[in-house]
Amino acid sequence: MKRNIIAMLNMKGGVGKTTLCKEVAYYLSKNEKKVLVVDVDPQGNLTQSIFEKFNYKHHYESETEKNKDYEVCTATISQVFEYKSIVEGVKKENFILELNEYFSIIPGDLNAVFFERSSGSSESENALKNFIEDFEIRDEYDYVLLDCPPTFSFYTTAALLASDFYISPIHPDSYSILGIDLLYQVVDRLKAVYRDRFKSLPLDHLGVVFSNIPREGSIQQGMKDMMLDIKDSEVLKSLDVHFFGEPFRVNSSIPKKIDYFIADSSSDYSYANLRKVVKELDFRIDFFTKKQEQEV
Ligand SMILES: Nc1ncnc2c1ncn2[C@@H]1O[C@H](COP(=O)(O)OP(=O)(O)O)[C@@H](O)[C@H]1O
Ligand SMILES: [Mg+2]
Repeated sequence: MKRNIIAMLNMKGGVGKTTLCKEVAYYLSKNEKKVLVVDVDPQGNLTQSIFEKFNYKHHYESETEKNKDYEVCTATISQVFEYKSIVEGVKKENFILELNEYFSIIPGDLNAVFFERSSGSSESENALKNFIEDFEIRDEYDYVLLDCPPTFSFYTTAALLASDFYISPIHPDSYSILGIDLLYQVVDRLKAVYRDRFKSLPLDHLGVVFSNIPREGSIQQGMKDMMLDIKDSEVLKSLDVHFFGEPFRVNSSIPKKIDYFIADSSSDYSYANLRKVVKELDFRIDFFTKKQEQEV
């Protein structure tokens, strides 16, 4: 089976999960790959950014007047979490908003905030996975990227149960080693609890991407040393953690404008950086695909 569902995962906030998710996804779509992003984080930052860029609002934010200067979206992740099975009348458009030929989103919405408490049932934890299978999402898209919240919660479980891979942006600091170690423990525990699911469909770590890293010329020695220490740590070596060779570099426009996207900007530097990160991502997917073919 095609493996192209990737969760952005790190239990820390502010490390660049959402930014890397939207930049990689949009870059791929501009290069005529068919991409679906899923906003699994109830904070909904990914949705806010993409709605701003493509001029959409949620139906519950929309005013009633006729001459609206934006489009209204009714698709939401909440409906995916409530998904049970394909029945007559259930259309993909209830869940997925197509932004253009190559780029689609399952948007986050306010109601999704309440799923954590109300659910906990295996039915809703498996809903995203079942939706992806029933609607043959793996075949329909070249890439599916899931943006996860920083907590380990119902949302992360739902995302990982649906995923083939996860990738972890980190900002290098003295807690990073413990953070990745903990992440592996949590994923291992999840794999043990849901062993049947992971027996038939593996979940592999594409690797760690250092994110929000200054340009080569302006990066301080302290940060360089920190990155080396993290890569060389005994703990992470024993876990066989893969590190992307290319970091995701700082771009000062990113935090200033939520509708800024590198693939539309005039920054050759950021574009080339993003291209290298995406190339490594493809390389890692190929690596696991070949490995699996050899095992079969
Ligand atoms: N490459 C980058 N260059 C500049 N700012 C960045 C970059 N990546 C992330 N940021 C900023 O860092 C903050 C946290 O990023 P975000 O993607 O929201 O992290 P997370 O999703 O992990 O919480 C945001 O303000 C974002 O704009
Ligand atoms: Mg985020």
